[in-house]
Amino acid sequence: MKPIFIIGNWKSNKETSEANAWLAEAKQLLSQTPIEKQKEVVVCAPFTLLSLVCSFVSEHTLSLHVGAQDISPFTNGAYTGEICAKQVKEFATHVIIGHSERRRFFGETDTMLAEKVKQALAQGIAPIYLVQSENDPIPQGVTMVGYEPVGAIGTGHPDSPKNAEEIAIKIKEKNPYVDYVLYGGSVTAENVASFTGLAHINGVIPGGASLTPDSFFALVHNA
Ligand code: PGA
Repeated sequence: MKPIFIIGNWKSNKETSEANAWLAEAKQLLSQTPIEKQKEVVVCAPFTLLSLVCSFVSEHTLSLHVGAQDISPFTNGAYTGEICAKQVKEFATHVIIGHSERRRFFGETDTMLAEKVKQALAQGIAPIYLVQSENDPIPQGVTMVGYEPVGAIGTGHPDSPKNAEEIAIKIKEKNPYVDYVLYGGSVTAENVASFTGLAHINGVIPGGASLTPDSFFALVHNA
């Protein structure tokens, strides 16, 4: 059975109390309905909550992986405000790199993103590299790519599964080292199966739908 990846992206949301409430409810829901074997679920939390999420997940042996939403393009050292791969690695197995919000609001360029990928790979952190179209360059060594058309993010208007599938095929053709293409942009429990049922889409990246355990785990089970 092909693996299905579900990457929840909390973005710049949640404080400690809210994260604790999310985790407690997640634990309860997962004890009732465990995640199906072929699914790999990653929760990408803000840096401030990585330690908390990581500790809770390991203490309660939840079948969740922890991811970061960004990483420094540099190693450790005199880079005030940055969180480097060595630091991320303490808590996270995955990292989102190249989200359109980072490109748009923080001026991240393809060159900078390629450096971020290098840093993540050097520390054994799996990059989830996000692109907006099949034409965006994908750095060597990336095996998991997320296709996220900007107009579909947070709008309630997802791309059509047909178009997402066509883009996924093109991405895999152009970048033979890419094993998995995921789709992101207004994915919900209701529409997730229309994407994960496609031959060339290997998972999804929900943002808004990852914020409550109810909506997130309904999505996970429907995927
Ligand atoms: P959304 O966000 O599910 O809220 O549209 C997806 C994303 O930005 O990764």
